[in-house]
Amino acid sequence: MVVLGIESSCDETAAAVLADGRRVLSSVVASQDAIHAPYGGVVPELASRRHLEVIVPVVEKALADAGVRLRELDGVAVTQGPGLVGSLLVGCAVAKSLAYVHRLPLVAVNHLEGHIYATFLTEDPPEHPFLALVVSGGHTALYRARAPLEYSLVGQTRDDAAGEAFDKVAKLLGLGFPGGPVIERVAASGDPKAIMFPLAQMSDGAPDFSFSGVKTSVSLYVKQHAPLERTEVADVAASFQATIVKMLVRKTVKAALHHGIKRVVLTGGVAANGPLRAALEAAAIEHGLHLHVPPRHLCTDNAAMIAAAGTARLAAGERAPLSLNAAPDLALAG
Ligand code: KG4
Ligand code: ZN
Repeated sequence: MVVLGIESSCDETAAAVLADGRRVLSSVVASQDAIHAPYGGVVPELASRRHLEVIVPVVEKALADAGVRLRELDGVAVTQGPGLVGSLLVGCAVAKSLAYVHRLPLVAVNHLEGHIYATFLTEDPPEHPFLALVVSGGHTALYRARAPLEYSLVGQTRDDAAGEAFDKVAKLLGLGFPGGPVIERVAASGDPKAIMFPLAQMSDGAPDFSFSGVKTSVSLYVKQHAPLERTEVADVAASFQATIVKMLVRKTVKAALHHGIKRVVLTGGVAANGPLRAALEAAAIEHGLHLHVPPRHLCTDNAAMIAAAGTARLAAGERAPLSLNAAPDLALAG
């Protein structure tokens, strides 16, 4: 089965062609980082306008790179949500038009399920059941994947997403956008133990996350110590990153042990973070868990992961109607 995936939920316009749910024939990602960088965050109106400008060339390039013609496709998979409504609408409109004109089966994909399916594009796909930590700019949640296409929510953030915290702290430190990669780079020369930022604890013991406290602490620290020297900025970045990593690793391992799940998936944009990958791998080994992590370029937004999840849903007989609409708050599981 050859499937075209289309992704436009936030600030990346992406298209990919995937064969047999596993072989990436092409994957094109047009980043909008340069457009949003001056604002230190994604500006929804600018994002949807840019998607409109580039989506057709991006889809054409994905097909050309794959050497596949539209009539040779077995289906079109598109991100329906969650995400920015104006951005999602662009991808959905293009996917529906292609499906209608070329009489192709259409399938709707949840962006978070897409992130999880990036793991199925690796040499080491996880067997069910597994626990998935999805950490991105918009979401931070733990899902239990009981069986193919069946998920339950184990825990989630009560305030900011981890990626959002990276982006906001980078802005506070004047480091630019997107925050994750630049914080990781600057933190490499800093001391992760230089400053003790608070680790959020849930008073009710729930496996939920909270990142607004650490973000506020960084903000206070920066105000109290302004102006920061280069070495201090590196120490703040390293200490902040270490705090986030510790919170993510602790909750994930605790949840895996609590639910008796041996396999853990780490995915989403923040999963591109080297120290997070290393710390979760070390903790997994220590606790006898098997960690599955996609390569970095499949952790951040791309359409190969949407095509992968879409292929699984098409194979299960799922079809979306041509009345398909964007769903900005689409949930993966209750
Ligand atoms: O999954 P993604 O590409 O888009 C969303 O679905 O949100 O995730 C983007 C987020 C951004 O907040 C970005 O700062 C973060 O992932 N990110 C990172 C790294 N690379 C991207 N965070 C930490 N370390 C990184 N290397
Ligand atoms: Zn994402």
